[in-house]
Amino acid sequence: MLLWDDPIGQLKSRAPRATEPGLLATQVLETIETPAPVVTPAAVLDTTPPAAAPESTASTHAAGLEQVEFGARRLAVDDKQMINCRADLNQLVPFKYKWAWQKYLNACANHWMPQEINMNADVSLWKSRDGLTEDERLIIKRNLGFFSTADSLVANNLVLAVYRHITNPECRQYLLRQAFEEALHTHAYQYCIESLGLDEAEIFNMYREIPAVHDKASWALRFTESLGDPTFSTGTTAADQRLLRDLIAFYVVFEGIFFYVGFVQVLSMGRRNKMTGVAEQFQYILRDESMHMNFGIDVINQIKVENPQLWTEQFQRDIAELIDDAIKLELRYAQDTMPRGVLGLNVNMFEEYLHYIANRRCAQIGLAEQYPGANNPFPWMSELIDLKKEKNFFETRVTEYQTGGALSWD
Ligand SMILES: [Fe+2]
Ligand SMILES: [Fe+2]
Repeated sequence: MLLWDDPIGQLKSRAPRATEPGLLATQVLETIETPAPVVTPAAVLDTTPPAAAPESTASTHAAGLEQVEFGARRLAVDDKQMINCRADLNQLVPFKYKWAWQKYLNACANHWMPQEINMNADVSLWKSRDGLTEDERLIIKRNLGFFSTADSLVANNLVLAVYRHITNPECRQYLLRQAFEEALHTHAYQYCIESLGLDEAEIFNMYREIPAVHDKASWALRFTESLGDPTFSTGTTAADQRLLRDLIAFYVVFEGIFFYVGFVQVLSMGRRNKMTGVAEQFQYILRDESMHMNFGIDVINQIKVENPQLWTEQFQRDIAELIDDAIKLELRYAQDTMPRGVLGLNVNMFEEYLHYIANRRCAQIGLAEQYPGANNPFPWMSELIDLKKEKNFFETRVTEYQTGGALSWD
């Protein structure tokens, strides 16, 4: 267990584990050490490193940091590719993936900041002795515990792992915006934790100390290790499948399934007029996350179109298994955060809901539905998620930004 007063000394004394060969001390995508053994999901896919890419392909993908060749042929749309592109990555136009640029514009139009949300009602409710039940307090604390480290993990995966391997400037433009939004989300959780006066050490260490929180983060870290490895390169079928699988693990599972029990729980409190400030923060975050997931799904589908050899029957079976393991972890998280029925919710409803959203995610990436007949027990969530909201959701705030942010040169 980490001592909050001396986390660095504690880390220094941590002996390297035999199961962590090759991890660099400075990387932030390490496996999470826990104080007690916890159940980890069964291996869903072979995670041994792929065979090294042949030398002819390993170093020929553009990174964006190459020397600029004077007088070279101008960039054409057809030169662009989602992965393994050899063309200049510093030229945003001509656009090939206009949807990526549009998503970047939509994300910027939805700008918000955590400190704009009034937390006063939450603070007095949290501090009043009988304002909330113990079950309701548990929901708030566990979700802040999970999300406060989860969004940092997503940001680190984006910046240190995914970004290098997506070889397209308009998609990278969106990734940069997404990375900032992940920083805003971590900021929002910290703002809630600070406003409510919670024990920061307890909240930020949950991913080391609470099995249901740990297991989700730990599951995700397995799908960022190889992409974050500086020696990893795409360009072979095995490596490209690794990238595609890891994108599915983060965009479809982590942001598309692992966030949703928490979103439903906290937004349910807001709908009952409890912890409305925290719920509003989560509402903004849900809107951002829904866009992140949709962007990721577009990238995944584009990679499939350009590299159909990756989408084998075996690969599809592996992905279905991966999603099924993730659903089990998220269900355990629902049980842990909500040991009894509360707020009109119970674990059976979450099981149905998780099957329902898993079916949707599978359909979106072209996989067969894995849980036939699952219904949505929380139709009010789809109103928030499914509406064409990128332009008109929270319209007043968007308008404030657009007018407030306009420069006048007079
Ligand atoms: Fe996020
Ligand atoms: Fe996200």
